[in-house]
Amino acid sequence: GYRAEDDYDYLFKVVLIGDSGVGKSNLLSRFTRNEFSLESKSTIGVEFATRSLNVDGKVIKAQIWDTAGQERSWFAFVLLYVPQLQRLIYAILIRNLSHIFHLQLRSLWSVVHLRNYCWSHLCPSKPAVIAITMTTPPLLYRAITSAYYRGAVGALLVYDVTRHSTFENVERWLRELRDHTDPNIVVMLIGNKSDLRHLVAVSTEDGKSFAEKESLFFMETSALEATNVDNAFADVLTQIY
Ligand code: GTP
Ligand code: MG
Repeated sequence: GYRAEDDYDYLFKVVLIGDSGVGKSNLLSRFTRNEFSLESKSTIGVEFATRSLNVDGKVIKAQIWDTAGQERSWFAFVLLYVPQLQRLIYAILIRNLSHIFHLQLRSLWSVVHLRNYCWSHLCPSKPAVIAITMTTPPLLYRAITSAYYRGAVGALLVYDVTRHSTFENVERWLRELRDHTDPNIVVMLIGNKSDLRHLVAVSTEDGKSFAEKESLFFMETSALEATNVDNAFADVLTQIY
């Protein structure tokens, strides 16, 4: 029978982690909108998208969270107040230096600009008030990290098969994940950009054996060619379920 778009049996939060440029945002856009961009910019703040899948006759809605993999430097904390809801609905973190300098230089114009940016990128209804505060990186870093991982039941830990350093950093990401999530979380290790066959720097065997050692699921994907992207997300969701 008919099911409304927002009718689902389970809602699962899944996080994307891994170094900057490995393709997290493109895996997300490929899975949720079937889109890919060769010129995508590094993610600012935290974004998420959803897609529902059918598993065993149940509708599973995946809420997938994405953030930048780059080293955290400076942050601005942005709070949006939506009068219709009478509460704060988002805490957005801008981790781009130029944004912050920009705010100091031309504050009024920038707040308007930022409000539009936040609205079009993250906020479904237009916020009325924005408060901006800045804080020191270590303090805020802890706050974001725990908010990002809170409630996650699945994770895709992504490296780039053409850049060995991104594979070496998987251990660090895994440690951070283990520190912030329930031990039962389903984790899949993803070697992305499998389309770049002539540039491969991490063999399938190395990826697979690391995954086995750490009890992770493993898959090689290409967001560009749409290879294994649906499979990777579907496997994680099925395992959670
Ligand atoms: P941050 O937001 O900085 O953490 O990066 P990210 O992990 O979200 O990477 P993003 O999705 O922005 O992709 C980085 C670059 O890699 C972009 O130029 C993409 O077009 C490219 N890219 C992503 N996935 C693939 C892929 O499967 N194959 C190829 N050839 N390029 C890809
Ligand atoms: Mg990104």
